[in-house]
Amino acid sequence: MNAPWSAGMPGNRDPFAAYICDDTALDILRPVIIEMGWQPEKCNKGGLRNAVQSLSVAASPNILMVDLSESGDPLNDINALAEVCEPGTVVVAIGQVNDVRLYRDLLASGIHDYLLKPLSAGQLRDALNQAQTVFAAPKGADQETAKRHISTAVVGTRGGVGASMIATSLAWLFSDDHKLPTALLDLDVHFGTGALALDLEPGRGLTDAIDNPSRIDGLFIERAMIRANDNLAILSAEAPINAPLMTDGSAFVQLEEEFRQAFEMTMIDLPRNMLINFPHLLADVNVVVLATEMTLASARDTIRLLSWLKTNAAHARPIIVANKVQSGAVEINKADFEASIERSIDFQIPYDPKSATNAAKLGQVFADANPGAKSSQVLRQLAERIIGTSDEDADEEADKKKGSLLGGFDFKSLLKKKEPAEKAPAEM
Ligand SMILES: Nc1ncnc2c1ncn2[C@@H]1O[C@H](COP(=O)(O)OP(=O)(O)OP(=O)(O)O)[C@@H](O)[C@H]1O
Ligand SMILES: [Mg+2]
Repeated sequence: MNAPWSAGMPGNRDPFAAYICDDTALDILRPVIIEMGWQPEKCNKGGLRNAVQSLSVAASPNILMVDLSESGDPLNDINALAEVCEPGTVVVAIGQVNDVRLYRDLLASGIHDYLLKPLSAGQLRDALNQAQTVFAAPKGADQETAKRHISTAVVGTRGGVGASMIATSLAWLFSDDHKLPTALLDLDVHFGTGALALDLEPGRGLTDAIDNPSRIDGLFIERAMIRANDNLAILSAEAPINAPLMTDGSAFVQLEEEFRQAFEMTMIDLPRNMLINFPHLLADVNVVVLATEMTLASARDTIRLLSWLKTNAAHARPIIVANKVQSGAVEINKADFEASIERSIDFQIPYDPKSATNAAKLGQVFADANPGAKSSQVLRQLAERIIGTSDEDADEEADKKKGSLLGGFDFKSLLKKKEPAEKAPAEM
């Protein structure tokens, strides 16, 4: 039984009902229920068995209090209750067995709280107020997970370093390997290769968006984006090269906003000149992949871009990816490159012209066309790092929220084993 009452929508239900075994407990409960503004008649005599019988033929209340005192096997009997109880009900159990293991098992099975007899008015009041808070709160963890969004921009430190190859491969891996709804936005408006790499026509979607930013909404996104697979949609253009880009960048920001609602992952192929013209494009980006080669010019511009990011987008996590790496044939070796940029390279993708040619021939993105290649393996690790990094952020956020909701008692976090914060960078 996996907390069937922790999800779902409340309908037209009673705010409260209780099924209690003995009169002493009922006498303490009723005045508290009146105080809470609920009907004392909803405090029924009879414990768990009575609750199961009644709820099998009636709607479940928002908050259900149930006495386990007469139950020989409370955990098993709770399962029977779960079968007749509608989703969304917050269940507070009462019992006379003072056993931490039972308490934990009950919480793990989806029970909100377990109160030990003899009851006191204060204890009941606290528990019911808390149950009410939980009931009224947005149905937490599941929706938070569904709404999680990671926005990644790939920027090349120089032209031709492979930024678009990395952006399209990552978008493919998010959408295909990880089945995450993904938007790929190719902001190389005149010379973009996002659609080309996927063997698709770019269409007019991005051009229309730039011309009429006010038209951008959920419906526009649905109509204008080109589907590459079940989970991947792309927005790109092959704008005529006699038409200069006429935009203040608001269309791009609006698109990012819509993607956040409609997808779980956004991948932006962001040419360096766009970053200069529209720095606000990075305002809500979580991860910036700096694609680089091990050359002198690339080292200089990695330093400049890292410094720019620190000043203008400190919230975004930079990941340095050296591409087209050939051992013994790089302009600057790894140690010198890292010394000059004053940080380590996170991933190195080998120079792999065979795979590049194969991708072009097949009309597939690099990682899709060459799943067994070493270069694709590094791309898969990079995809995992991006997804994983933000998982950790989201977990921390969720833990903070859950902790405050349950008044400091966060049962699940006790059980959860945290992963180490950072994985070792992939080595060739
Ligand atoms: N690891 C690699 N090994 C061999 N060839 C590669 C590798 N990565 C990319 N390429 C090839 O390099 C060329 C340039 O790649 P890509 O278009 O992705 O670079 P870019 O940085 O986006 O360029 P631009 O500055 O024009 O946007 C492509 O032909 C691509 O197939
Ligand atoms: Mg490119």
